[in-house]
Amino acid sequence: MVMEGAARVTLDEITALAKRRGFIFGSSEIYGGIGGFFDYGPLGSILKRNVKEAWWREMVELRDDVVGFDASIIMHPNTWIASGHVAQFHDRLVDCKNCKHRFRADHLASLERCPDCGMSHTLTEPRNFNLMMQTAIGPMEDSASRAYLRPETAQGIFVNFKNIYQSARKKPPFGIAQIGKSFRNEITPGNFTFRQREFEQAELEFFVPDDGQDLAWYERWVSARKRWYSDYGVRAERLRFYELTPEERPHYARAGTDVEYLFPWGWGELESIAHRGTYDLDAHMALSGKDLTFFDESTKTKYTPILIESSAGVDRTTLTMLIDAYENESVLDESTGKETRRIVLRFHPKIAPVQVGVFALARNKPGLVERAKHIERDLRPHARTQYDEGNVGQLYRRQDEIGTPFCVMVDYQSLEDGTVTVRDRDSMRQERVAAEGLAPFLGERL
Ligand code: GAP
Repeated sequence: MVMEGAARVTLDEITALAKRRGFIFGSSEIYGGIGGFFDYGPLGSILKRNVKEAWWREMVELRDDVVGFDASIIMHPNTWIASGHVAQFHDRLVDCKNCKHRFRADHLASLERCPDCGMSHTLTEPRNFNLMMQTAIGPMEDSASRAYLRPETAQGIFVNFKNIYQSARKKPPFGIAQIGKSFRNEITPGNFTFRQREFEQAELEFFVPDDGQDLAWYERWVSARKRWYSDYGVRAERLRFYELTPEERPHYARAGTDVEYLFPWGWGELESIAHRGTYDLDAHMALSGKDLTFFDESTKTKYTPILIESSAGVDRTTLTMLIDAYENESVLDESTGKETRRIVLRFHPKIAPVQVGVFALARNKPGLVERAKHIERDLRPHARTQYDEGNVGQLYRRQDEIGTPFCVMVDYQSLEDGTVTVRDRDSMRQERVAAEGLAPFLGERL
């Protein structure tokens, strides 16, 4: 029985749980780590994959007007000249001449005194720092070999616009979706996986004709994205859709919404949805000299489609799922009647890395162990399962902490009458179910 909740989780608690249970580790920790890079452990890699699959299913598979795409990370350097990233994708940076620390100018309250060492008049004038990561292609490292790791996946879609619509036989309104890695040399990575230097994006570029329906399409995408977060259980009171004012949007954008989540440190952006006009295709046509317009056979007219973009961060969404699911609550232990605390992750069943834990009530009891392992194997085609054995309380506590929605306990009665106990993570209620009917029983609930 659940008694009451507790204060909101802190980022330190999430970071500790993520490491303890194998969701997320700092990258290359044995060498002291490297700021802004992370590794997803056995459970975290599944959680992140489930987030991506949930996005892909909704944005591509369940629609007939969106196709998938997968571009290379390194593209022709002109891509980033056309997109404006070479000239404009920078943060303003200041250095402290005394302690050598580096800050984003827009993060400082004043440029008078260093916030780290406290000295006055030691900060340099702000200067531009480009956030694109560079690499060199081929054996020579000179300006001719310079290339960039993409800072967003979207440009791969724009430069391929014609290849895609012609080969997929699509006509606006239609969209192109892509999930992939992006890189930004962030000056101050932080807040765990919120601001990283290597991260994944899930981007949809939706192209519409200039027939007066563009703003309606934009609204439709904002609603679709709202539905997606709600379908996967993100708490409504911690999610907001902030509409950008004309001053906050780029000059070519007719509308923009930031999807924000209330993280332990405050509101943070999860996704940006924008009406970008024809800016991106125009820019690539101008620099490449290639035609990226759409020719409509039915009307024999040629036009540049208007773009509606939804650009979400996969790592930020995964972190949101972890934080949003987390609860540290006081519960009544039915077997002892004592009050105890438990940490539970209330993941949506589709997102949960393990969906069903199957246990033998005792170790070293061949009959029980064999039966439980058999049941777990039989469930594998139907759910993501895990086998374990031992102390009931510990087994349940471990599964609660990794967010497993259902636990199946195989006990002595199971050997006699073929039933097992199914425990529900959220209510902690248990019921006896015939082992033979487990797959449909769980199937209805997952
Ligand atoms: N193509 C549009 C675009 O890239 P953005 O607002 O710069 O727009 C979209 O990025 C999303 O990518 C953000 O809302 C965020 O979720 C994610 N993102 C951006 N920078 C990130 C970083 N340094 N670490 C983790 N995620 C990041």
